[in-house]
Amino acid sequence: MDKIQEIRKSALKDFEAAKNLSDLENVRIKYLGRKAGELTKLLRNLKNLPLEERRGIGPLAQKFREDLENLIAQKDKQLTADYRSPVAGRFDVTKPGKKIKLGHLHPLTLLEEEIKEIFSSMNFSIVEGPEIENERYNFDALNIPADHPARDMWDTFWLRQNQAKTKNLKPKTQGKLLLRTHTSPMQIRYMEAHNPPFQIVVPGVVYRYEATDATHDFQFRQLEGLMIGKDISLANFKYVIESFLKKLFGKDVEFELRPSYYPFVEPGVDVYMKWRGKWLEVAGAGMVHRKVFEAVRYNPDEWQGFAFGFGITRLAMIKYKIPDVRLFYSGDLRFINQF
Ligand code: PHE
Repeated sequence: MDKIQEIRKSALKDFEAAKNLSDLENVRIKYLGRKAGELTKLLRNLKNLPLEERRGIGPLAQKFREDLENLIAQKDKQLTADYRSPVAGRFDVTKPGKKIKLGHLHPLTLLEEEIKEIFSSMNFSIVEGPEIENERYNFDALNIPADHPARDMWDTFWLRQNQAKTKNLKPKTQGKLLLRTHTSPMQIRYMEAHNPPFQIVVPGVVYRYEATDATHDFQFRQLEGLMIGKDISLANFKYVIESFLKKLFGKDVEFELRPSYYPFVEPGVDVYMKWRGKWLEVAGAGMVHRKVFEAVRYNPDEWQGFAFGFGITRLAMIKYKIPDVRLFYSGDLRFINQF
């Protein structure tokens, strides 16, 4: 009688202590093992006991063997389940990999990529230029001389000048430094370095020293376009723009060209699109002015072409139905994650 209680006690203790499958298997072998299991031995020796004792111990030992078998089977099942779960701190090689949460491109970048694709498909080259410009490229060569009232069209962030350097500027000064107010300076830079005919688009960030509101930010994205050849006309411009807008917004896109003024084009137009029931200006454009050709030493009687400057940020507002430009740079994930 004592013997069975003793085995029972130690078996339960060992069983409780078993923390993993191999511990559990050791418990099974120690007590239930065929050859040397303690309980097995006890049961095997029953026949040597006097009948009286056998009657007392037999059923008890038998019952305990069943109980222990059940307990072990249960714990085995549980440990096997734990083994597959991270709770046990184990690594289950059969589990599918955990997906790492990836970020994604900003909606303005996504749109810019799409726009670049469209213009590439129409044989335009994509080029980029500096965000820090000087007066010559941003204004003078674009037929906007100093003190000309047209400069007020572009409220400018001027950069602090190094006085010593400014004094040493060569006679043909490139002027003060500034943050480009439009991508048009790239018209000049590109024409200075290349011969026509060509067609380019220039995506990039521009800066304006302005108060912000729902449709204006002090920093936004533009897409400059320039197509120069022997007989490029405003009709070509309309065709290119219409194809572009249809590819971006679908066949039913609504847009209008309205006469406008920019010193570096003649004639000048603005492109308007419908946005929230109103017309929103999305681009300035026109035929490149003779004065601009003269500034880059092209013969204005030989070459002609159109230029345009789209506000990519405004196209994004229309395309994604965004009511306020400032949302784009708000850093609000609830906004960003919708794209
Ligand atoms: N650069 C002009 C602006 O930012 C837009 C424009 C570009 C107009 C090219 C005409 C031709 O307002």
